[in-house]
Amino acid sequence: MAQSAEQIVVTGGWPLNGTVRIPAAKNSVLPLLAAALLCQRPVRLRGVPRLSDVECSLALLRGAGCTAQWQGSDVALSGSPVQSTLPGQTAAQMRASILFCAPLLARLGRAETVLPGGCRIGSRPIDLHLTGLARMGVQELDAGPGRLVLLAPSGLHGAEITLRFPSVGATETLLLAAACARGRTVLRGAAREPEVADLADFLNRCGGSVEGAGSSTLIIEGRRALGGCVFSPLPDRIFASTLACAAAAAGGRVELTGCSPELYAPVLEILAQMGCRVERGGESVQVARFGRLYGAGRVFTGVYPALATDAAPPLAAAMLCAEGESSIEDVIFERRFACAEGFAALGGRVNTAGRVLHIRPGGALRGTRLSAPDLRGGAALVLAALAAQGRSQIGGVAYLDRGYADFTEILASLGARIYRETKPA
Ligand code: EPZ
Repeated sequence: MAQSAEQIVVTGGWPLNGTVRIPAAKNSVLPLLAAALLCQRPVRLRGVPRLSDVECSLALLRGAGCTAQWQGSDVALSGSPVQSTLPGQTAAQMRASILFCAPLLARLGRAETVLPGGCRIGSRPIDLHLTGLARMGVQELDAGPGRLVLLAPSGLHGAEITLRFPSVGATETLLLAAACARGRTVLRGAAREPEVADLADFLNRCGGSVEGAGSSTLIIEGRRALGGCVFSPLPDRIFASTLACAAAAAGGRVELTGCSPELYAPVLEILAQMGCRVERGGESVQVARFGRLYGAGRVFTGVYPALATDAAPPLAAAMLCAEGESSIEDVIFERRFACAEGFAALGGRVNTAGRVLHIRPGGALRGTRLSAPDLRGGAALVLAALAAQGRSQIGGVAYLDRGYADFTEILASLGARIYRETKPA
């Protein structure tokens, strides 16, 4: 990703105090925007965060021939796709462009896009998407490296598919393909993430027939066409996890509203074991840390409902501030902890071995120059800088803008000494 000329400046050592309402989830909004390609009636998504990945998705929808526009914090979508080739420059900016292929195949019988190279957190293959689509009548043309051309010459038909791994994206691709395929699809080994259930809820609200969302077996009766609806995407459990970890790292007390604690229970449980005071409400959580933090011992990520891989870097930032040892193993992505380099530059006593990040106590964190290696790693470096003594400058802000709207403003509203600036020449 091109390095923007902006940087985030943090003066650490200040506790956080205040309340934040959690915005809608990036990882729900993106598949919902792709799903809108299936809808023959207007769609309105409420309270959509202003993220660069959302802007990229709106550009893909417009490139396909749909109307997509902001109306306040809502996104209004209408029109049907007429162009099966997604704009290459735009599609190459995010992994989630793959999600737009299944709806184009359902509506136009063809989909063409470009696929970005593997990003820092892993190779990000799409074999599970493609083998599932092949079972539903899709053929892949040899389009050369980085390009993907898919055809459904006889349209999409239902199938019985078992995923060897509960891939979130593959589950969403096959859900989108099955929604308007001919006949029934049974998808076993499906991802159980809440964002998948949100997509199923949206499709059902548009007249679709999806059963079993949230479980590992989805049963979808294909519909000839879907209508539209007004829909509020679910809150962002990863944004909530990030702010909970910020409170643990910087100290103070933060109340997070509008997001059920159930959606990020593992993070909250680990923070409580580390010494934070966690008070759960129906749709809110208070996370407070005024004393010492204890090490968390061995921690593993996993597929939902286990600890989310995306929450691992922010959690590691909190672990940097603990007086005992911690380790996190990310079983989902092979290069999740590129942020370890930044942690070490701050003075953290860290090392990575394969998928495991080891964190030892005693590293006095001191501000320094840092660069975000990816979206969640960048957020983790901001959190670690909040806990460091002195001033840090964090580049690679464009990564953060992909997944955290108003991140510095929200942290500043909680009392952090943080702002964005254009890098001095
Ligand atoms: C989604 O990515 C999220 N992105 C990711 O969030 C999240 O980390 C991930 O799910 C896991 O929860 C969006 O929803 C837009 P996967 P996705 O397919 O769908 C392997 C963020 O920071 N795999 O569940 O790409 C893959 O290599 C992003 O917001 C295959 O082998 O994740 C990985 O090891 C990062 N073949 C594992 O499955 C495939 O065809 C999980 O990938 C697909 C995936």
